[in-house]
Amino acid sequence: MIVIIDFGSQYNQLIARSVRECHVYCQILSPDTDIDYVRSLKPEGIILSGGPASIYEKQSPVIDKTIFDLGIPVLGICYGMQFMVYSLGGTVKKAKKREYGFAELKIKIQTDLFNNVDKITKCWMSHGDSILNLPAGFKITASTENTEIAAIVNNNLYGVQFHPEVQHTQQGKIILQNFLFDICGCRRLWTMKSFARDSILQIKETIKSEKVILGLSGGVDSCVTALLIHKAIGKNLTCIFVDNGLLRKNEADKLKKNLKQHLKINIRFINAKTRFLKALADITDPEKKRKIIGRIFVDVFESEARKIKDVDYLAQGTLYPDVIESISAFGGPSSIIKSHHNVGGLPKKMKLKLVEPLKYLFKDEVRLLGKELGLHEEFIWRQPFPGPGLAIRIIGEVTGRRLLILREIDAILLEEIKNNGYYKKLWQSFAVLLPVKSVGIMGDKRTYENIAAIRAVTSKDAMTADWARLPHKLLGDISNRIINEVKGVNRVVYDISSKPPSTIEWE
Ligand code: XMP
Repeated sequence: MIVIIDFGSQYNQLIARSVRECHVYCQILSPDTDIDYVRSLKPEGIILSGGPASIYEKQSPVIDKTIFDLGIPVLGICYGMQFMVYSLGGTVKKAKKREYGFAELKIKIQTDLFNNVDKITKCWMSHGDSILNLPAGFKITASTENTEIAAIVNNNLYGVQFHPEVQHTQQGKIILQNFLFDICGCRRLWTMKSFARDSILQIKETIKSEKVILGLSGGVDSCVTALLIHKAIGKNLTCIFVDNGLLRKNEADKLKKNLKQHLKINIRFINAKTRFLKALADITDPEKKRKIIGRIFVDVFESEARKIKDVDYLAQGTLYPDVIESISAFGGPSSIIKSHHNVGGLPKKMKLKLVEPLKYLFKDEVRLLGKELGLHEEFIWRQPFPGPGLAIRIIGEVTGRRLLILREIDAILLEEIKNNGYYKKLWQSFAVLLPVKSVGIMGDKRTYENIAAIRAVTSKDAMTADWARLPHKLLGDISNRIINEVKGVNRVVYDISSKPPSTIEWE
């Protein structure tokens, strides 16, 4: 395995992903981590990430510098390299010129890090500080026009000022692979098969004969969590599916049928539609909506859980990006933008121990794991759907009538997206009902009706997203069908904003 020390770079997940894609397991740790803990993990190598701070400033993140004495190869990237230099006695200063973007890297000394890399290659730079003097024993191995010290080495300590993890660095993948295989001696052992086998064993050992409950939404994360735990402890797992009345057209019934048919697991189906809709009456503020839905969900879940006696554990489908966000040296941005609701609010109240078997996986790895465990395609490829459901896609008050309209719009959109082969290609595609009306003309008559917005985005992990360049013909067909088939809508608009600065959901 490889340990990645997170100094707060926006590219950290990319480092982790690149390592995992090489079938090598890695974990991201905070700089506060105790060195004994790092040692206990027995990593083959350590990567020090980049970060926005300046090492010579007071509160810049640092890890115990004995990390360089462990005898384990270290690769410092950008700030990580500057930290290495600074802690071993070199100097780092503000650069005369900030360097951001492409640069031509010239390799001066061939080391294992540059095996099979061209002598001149394009790399991606993003730094405001530069190294002035190297500590004793270090040599410069590559330079760019602006940055003489662009790569360094001293025995098994390597540093690069550029970012090998971003795709703009032409041969970045080769450089990372050289570090993993030629320098650290890693082997390609990390597969979903091995992960499934190890996790099932681990869950069995931890939970023994105790009881576990899980909030099942029908999304890929909760389904895979359920399957994994079920394989480990069988009937001692009970899943709870709450119909909050905020699901898409026929979704609750379809899910119920599919879950029963494909997941041969103990599931309780709870109809709490009225409770949710009553509590949402007159509420327009997005945060209030989210909090109300979260609270009722907890109440419903809790009262169901109480009926199952002697529950010890709560299982959650938490994924690695959430974990990374919470340990990041600078804290993650999205946690403070919206109060995301899943069952995260439960443990404190319910005093249950947590099982989160997916907490080291990325979404695409969860999908592969689902496949490995035999999960039906229908669940594996479901696009993410937020816990608060359609309530945060109806801007303004959530009413029965507006839910009906949005369900119809959404059903048409999804049908067209699926029929045209875009469903799997998009991270998400959905409709939003706006609280404004516009004038139109239909059959020679003036109309004054609702506006629907279509949102379709591509993304790897929802941290960033881009609006999907759907073909104009498809957009035209979707718009025509919605306006013709859904009573109460006379205009359709397409959302062309990326995240950031927008978010994926509108509320
Ligand atoms: P935003 O809108 O923050 O969404 O860009 C990022 C991803 O998270 C989903 N999302 C949620 N998922 N509970 C969830 O389980 C929530 O409250 C929630 N809010 C947003 C969203 O659909 C997107 O995939």
